[in-house]
Amino acid sequence: MPVLIRTRALSKVYHVGDNVIHALREVSIDIQQGELVAIMGPSGSGKSTLMNVLGCLDRPSSGSYALGDREVSDLDADALAEVRNRGIGFVFQSFNLLPRTSALENVELPLVYAGIDTRARQQRAHSMLERVGLGARTDHQPAQLSGGQQQRVAIARALVTNPLLILADEPTGALDSRTSLEIMALFQTLNREGMTIILVTHEPDVARFAGRILRFLDGALVEDTINPQPDDAHQLLAALPPVNTLPLSSGTDKNASSSTVGSA
Ligand SMILES: Nc1ncnc2c1ncn2[C@@H]1O[C@H](COP(=O)(O)OP(=O)(O)OP(=O)(O)O)[C@@H](O)[C@H]1O
Ligand SMILES: [Mg+2]
Repeated sequence: MPVLIRTRALSKVYHVGDNVIHALREVSIDIQQGELVAIMGPSGSGKSTLMNVLGCLDRPSSGSYALGDREVSDLDADALAEVRNRGIGFVFQSFNLLPRTSALENVELPLVYAGIDTRARQQRAHSMLERVGLGARTDHQPAQLSGGQQQRVAIARALVTNPLLILADEPTGALDSRTSLEIMALFQTLNREGMTIILVTHEPDVARFAGRILRFLDGALVEDTINPQPDDAHQLLAALPPVNTLPLSSGTDKNASSSTVGSA
């Protein structure tokens, strides 16, 4: 598979008052088209900074970054925005959907910016929502959807422009463990269809579905491990008891409470 992302000695330095913060230190990585990569590391180790640079939301202080066959580290803000809008789909922990706006309209939004006409926009947004299993929820607003459903809408929105890759910063961080598994199953499906996906996670339970794990510490890449046989999220999901037959009052529903972080 061709290399999609190539960084060499990528560094990002922030100056805050008299402090110099080395958020990324000479990071050199190659990521092949079609990989599913998990980025791990403690808080403050530079994971989001790397995602922002890879996503063309931010420029490195030094070093090079090529996306496909294009060097992007020295592009100006307008050119960077162009690459970002056409080439990269983003998924965030907090979904970042527009409130009081239907799922369909949320997914249409990137196509509005791309100047696609209404009818084509609605068709593409609709088929993308079907692809993530929400064909019956297109008129629902975010507040009328569960956390997992909201994240599916966000994934449909990330996919609708047909990007080169998906960048997801803690996409399951606000979801319970069953819903996280559902989202990882969706990512694995998309990855098997060829989509390159890079996701940040704190949870080994999420990283085990990736084919490669990059570990960061103090801004440096300290470990790059291939996971030759990633777990299959679909299989694990199938082995869970169906939701509607769980006992209602036992209080021992491990799946619903074990890894819930924040609110969905
Ligand atoms: N805009 C900024 N200005 C100054 N310092 C920043 C900025 N963004 C991040 N940093 C610093 O850069 C370092 C890396 O931050 P980053 O957000 O990439 O960490 P992270 O690995 O994503 O952490 P977390 O797991 O908590 O999300 C931290 O020390 C952080 O304080
Ligand atoms: Mg972060």
